[in-house]
Amino acid sequence: MKFDTPAGRNPIDRLKVVGRPTDRVEGHLKVTGTAPYAYEWHDPRASLAYGVIVGAGIAKGRVSALHLDEAKAAPGVVAVVTHENAGPLGKGAFYVQRFLADPKVDHYHQAVAAVVAETFEQARAAAALVRVDYVSEAGRFDLAAQWDTAPVPPESASGGPPESVVGDFEGAFAAAPVRLDETYTTPDQAHAMMEPHATIASWDGDRLTCHTSIQQMNWGVRDLALTLGIPKNRIRLLSPYIGGGFGGKGTVQADLALAAVAARLVGRPVKVALQRTQMFNATIHRPATIQRIRIGATRDGRITAIGHDSLNGNLPGGRTEPTTASTKPFYAGANRWTRLRLATLDLAEGNAMRAPGEAPGLMALEIAMDEMAERLGMDPVAFRVLNDTQVDPMQGGIPFSTRPFVECLRTGAKRFGWDRRASRPATLRDGRWLVGMGMAGAIRAAKIATSGARVRLDGRGVVTVEVDMTDIGTGSYTIVAQTAAEMMGVGLDRVVARLGDSDFPETPGSGGQQGGPSVTAGVYAACLKLREAVAQRLGFNSDDVAFADGMVRSGNRAVPLGQAAQAGDLVAEDTIEFGDLSKRFAQQTFGAHFAEVGVDADTGEIRVRRMLAVCAAGRIINPKAARSQVIGGMTMGIGAALMERMDVDKRRGFFVNHDLAGYEVPVHADIPHLDAVFVDEVDPTMSPMKAKGVGELGLCGVAPAVANAVYNATGVRVRDYPVTLDKLLDRMPDAA
Ligand code: MOS
Repeated sequence: MKFDTPAGRNPIDRLKVVGRPTDRVEGHLKVTGTAPYAYEWHDPRASLAYGVIVGAGIAKGRVSALHLDEAKAAPGVVAVVTHENAGPLGKGAFYVQRFLADPKVDHYHQAVAAVVAETFEQARAAAALVRVDYVSEAGRFDLAAQWDTAPVPPESASGGPPESVVGDFEGAFAAAPVRLDETYTTPDQAHAMMEPHATIASWDGDRLTCHTSIQQMNWGVRDLALTLGIPKNRIRLLSPYIGGGFGGKGTVQADLALAAVAARLVGRPVKVALQRTQMFNATIHRPATIQRIRIGATRDGRITAIGHDSLNGNLPGGRTEPTTASTKPFYAGANRWTRLRLATLDLAEGNAMRAPGEAPGLMALEIAMDEMAERLGMDPVAFRVLNDTQVDPMQGGIPFSTRPFVECLRTGAKRFGWDRRASRPATLRDGRWLVGMGMAGAIRAAKIATSGARVRLDGRGVVTVEVDMTDIGTGSYTIVAQTAAEMMGVGLDRVVARLGDSDFPETPGSGGQQGGPSVTAGVYAACLKLREAVAQRLGFNSDDVAFADGMVRSGNRAVPLGQAAQAGDLVAEDTIEFGDLSKRFAQQTFGAHFAEVGVDADTGEIRVRRMLAVCAAGRIINPKAARSQVIGGMTMGIGAALMERMDVDKRRGFFVNHDLAGYEVPVHADIPHLDAVFVDEVDPTMSPMKAKGVGELGLCGVAPAVANAVYNATGVRVRDYPVTLDKLLDRMPDAA
């Protein structure tokens, strides 16, 4: 179906199943450890071999010689795959990174070989015997050194115009009576998902089947086909359960590419996982940024000029981190200028990580807004309320579909007790703790994309849904099942959701927080067709047919749903496509984050004491799953604020802290009670579901809320993430 007018009343609005806080339908499999992950689809009858990847020991240059005799002679070794025997390899469309394509080394830990052996231990032992000679070239590893010279990238690298102008920014900024001009830095971050990248690949003639762990099945098939140089229809990918992704498993990584190549070479199924220590330098990451923000305002707090100049680095041809995405639509102001620039860095590829662009962009913008409020002598909530806009100030002034940002701010301020915040920093103490409150706004694009689904009704009245959508821990299974249950008028116990198979109808998968709204809309469309088929089979006039309580009713007749499939299963398939509503309306999700921190007056130790998120994302299909998404995002945001940073060795060119001992993420002991609530709204411009995604919104704005709270507690403004105690200590109020 084509969706090109705002949705009217429809079966979803009954809210018998949709809109209810629903447990995960696959939850028991997860908590009992019986949901099979990619590495666990081990068929004991298959003569499976194990692959271990050898990563490059230099950052840039080429392999001049491979010494493989020792590895090949080691016990159990079946083959050593290198660029010499891998066959011609291309590269996928979404990443610039390459796997074993030639002797060139683009970044540290890029795969140079994969050792295949009878057991994992044998493969790992033999991998340590591979000797590689390299010719090194000088690389570029220092982002800050390129601030003055880095160019504006082509449109293709920034995913849109890298520069946007409205009015006369420079003139208005120079004329503004109150001004801010500050530069903020965000570090390289790792996705650090629980489950490593892992694949089992097996060939049957020229057909390839892979159990793997990726977020977008359609991208995976496309990119694997491009990498291997085979048609897409010879590839089947299966990712029914995924142990987290955060954007790091968008599509093909080295495990999938090399497992497929190795399995082809040895004529057996091959299993490959990236070791944790390889993931940081061998895959993608969120790239570090340097962001200069300028804001000009009238004395009474109205923004007249807003400018954002942002730099990140990447491998040649790599993409730009779109940090200015939020600055464009978020606040009013007649004169605006945003620019993205791109430096060349010979480090692993920078690419999508949860809320790419918006998360690091808001880390800068929302500290700047806090600083500006202070210069104006205004409360930060009131400053944001005053500069709210109901039209997108950069997209020709089109209206937002819905924008309850002010409601998020006011609800949050009230619920959090914001009026108890000390407006003067470093004035509130609780024993040894300096206590402060901070807040920040959140905005994240509400995207939606073409999405298919197939639904089947059997004679028992069971509805089975098939979509190539993935569930990366977000709750996709559950919202798919809820949607089908609501549409067909049955309970959740009568619905089976099947996900993560590339042979199922195509969806956009899990990315850009568009999976939830897109896939449920596709299921809606397919269920509409199934309802028509049911009515027809039962000889009902489809205009007055009602589906409820497992029954189908028309006029005076009521029959069990399953009766429509007595003579054989009924199957319906459809794809929902979206018209131009996203061009007529600015579609965004909104939120406000509030944080209270304590900072030890002597040691500078920072503890988050409590946090609140108020979010607006259209209809919330499953408030329980959505809350989990938001508190997960808040946890990740606390990590971004206080802990996470990959350190670059600028001499040798790699991320040094490439394990979970050195790359710190929050643990339970770091996270206090987190409160997350949703504004009651529906957005009929999105889809018949009237829903938007929440998976990335929950992260946006969290880190600056924490950073602003640290400032309020201590009076020390840190503009360089993460906010760690070493950046506070010599400026603490009690410091001698
Ligand atoms: Mo998300 S980084 O778009 O998977």
